[in-house]
Amino acid sequence: MASKTASRALRSSAKQLAQPAARQRRSFVSAVSSASRVRSAVESRAAFLPLQQWRGMKTVDFAGHKETVYERDDWPREKLLDYFKNDTLALIGYGSQGHGQGLNLRDNGLNVIIGVRKNGKSWQEAQQDGWIPGTNLFDADEAISRGTVIMNLLSDAAQSETWPAIKPQLTKGKTLYFSHGFSPVFKSQTGVDVPSDIDVILVAPKGSGRTVRTLFREGRGINSSIAVYQDVTGKAQEKAIALGVAIGSGYLYETTFQKEVFSDLYGERGCLMGGIHGMFLAQYEVLREKGHSPSEAFNETVEEATQSLYPLIGANGMDYMYAACSTTARRGAIDWSKRFKETLKPVFQDLYNSVETGEETQKSLEFNSRKDYREAFEKEMKEIRDLEIWRAGKAVRGLRPENV
Ligand SMILES: NC(=O)c1ccc[n+]([C@@H]2O[C@H](COP(=O)([O-])OP(=O)(O)OC[C@H]3O[C@@H](n4cnc5c(N)ncnc54)[C@H](OP(=O)(O)O)[C@@H]3O)[C@@H](O)[C@H]2O)c1
Repeated sequence: MASKTASRALRSSAKQLAQPAARQRRSFVSAVSSASRVRSAVESRAAFLPLQQWRGMKTVDFAGHKETVYERDDWPREKLLDYFKNDTLALIGYGSQGHGQGLNLRDNGLNVIIGVRKNGKSWQEAQQDGWIPGTNLFDADEAISRGTVIMNLLSDAAQSETWPAIKPQLTKGKTLYFSHGFSPVFKSQTGVDVPSDIDVILVAPKGSGRTVRTLFREGRGINSSIAVYQDVTGKAQEKAIALGVAIGSGYLYETTFQKEVFSDLYGERGCLMGGIHGMFLAQYEVLREKGHSPSEAFNETVEEATQSLYPLIGANGMDYMYAACSTTARRGAIDWSKRFKETLKPVFQDLYNSVETGEETQKSLEFNSRKDYREAFEKEMKEIRDLEIWRAGKAVRGLRPENV
C-alpha cells in the first residue's frame, strides 16, 4: 500500500524498533551491570512523560484522567530484600507466569520456593531451570505450608479444582497472591472463596510470562496491574507494589480485581488475539476468493501489519503511522476505520456482556478442566497451523533477511 519512499521510511523505523530485541540475548549479569545506563535511559524517557512527580508514587495524566502509577525505582533490590527478609514466597504452579515470575524473584535474591505436583511437566521444567527438589522445589502442599506469601500461579481452572485442598492451608498471617482476578471475582463459579483473615492481593503482568522474564533480563520491566481484594493487615497494597517490582514489573497501575479480570478477558478475546485473528482470516479469505496468491494475501494482511505498521503504532501512536504512509493509503484507511468501528462495536458490546455475566468464565472452566484439555488444545492448534494463511506465513517468514 505505501509509496516507495514511505516503505523505506517504515522499513528503517521498523529496523530501529527491532534493535532492542537483539539486546534480549544479554545475560542477567550484564543487564544488572548496565543498570545505571538503563536508569539514565529511563530518566531521559521520563522527560517526555506528563509526570507531576518523578520519584515515589506519582500522578500521571492519561488523556485528562489522573491516575496513580508506582515504579520500580522506588523499590531497589536492597529495599526488597529487607522488606521480605522474614518471608518465604511460595510460588504454586510453574507454567508461563510461574517460570517468569519465579526466576525473576530468584535473581532478585528473594527467598522463593516452587510448589507443583510431583513428576508433572512443571516439576521437570522447574528442575531444568535449576530449582532443587527438597531445597526450593516441593509438592504444592509442602510449599504452601512453608510459605508466608502464597503466589497462586496455577492455571485458572486448576486454581478452582485445587481450592478445596489449598484453602485450609491459608492460615492467619499468610498472604494470598494472584496474577488474575478470575478465581475470587467469579467465586460462585470457581468456588474460590478466600478466608476472611488474610491479605489477598494481585499483580497481573500485562503480557506473557516469557515477556516478564525477557524484559527483566534486558534490565527493563513489564507493565503490571495491582489490586487489593482484602486488606487485613493494612499493608496489602504496599505488599502488592513490592511484589510487583520483585517479580519484574517496571510500572504498576492501580485497578480492582473485578476491573482487571473483566478487561483482561475482554481484551484477549478482542484486539489482542481473538478479534485480530478473525480480522486476519476475513481479509485473507476475501483476497484469495478474488484471485490473489497466498503470498500476496499474507503479505498484505499479516506480514506488513506485524513487521512494519503495528510497531510504528506501538512506538508513536496511530497518527504517526498514518502520517508515515502514503496519502492514498491514509485517505482510505481513515474513511474505512469508521465503518469497521460501527460494525464491530456491537460485537465488542456482546463480548463485554459475555465476560460480565460469567459466560466466558464458565466456558473456560469447562474446557480447561477436561482431563484431555492439553490434547484438545493441541488439536485446535494443529487446525490453525494447517490453515492456508498460516502455512503461507511460514513460507513468508522463511524469506525474511534474518531467516535466509
Ligand atoms: N500466561 C499469561 O500470559 C498470563 C498473563 C497474566 C496473568 N496470567 C495468570 O497467571 C496465572 C497462571 O497462568 P499461566 O498461564 O502461567 O498458567 P499455565 O501456564 O497454564 O500453568 C499451569 C500450571 O498449573 C499446573 N496445573 C494445571 N492443572 C493442574 C492441576 N489439576 N493440579 C495441579 N496443578 C495443575 C501446571 O502443572 P503441570 O505442569 O503439572 O500440569 C502448571 O504448573 C493465571 O491466573 C493466569 O490467568 C497469565
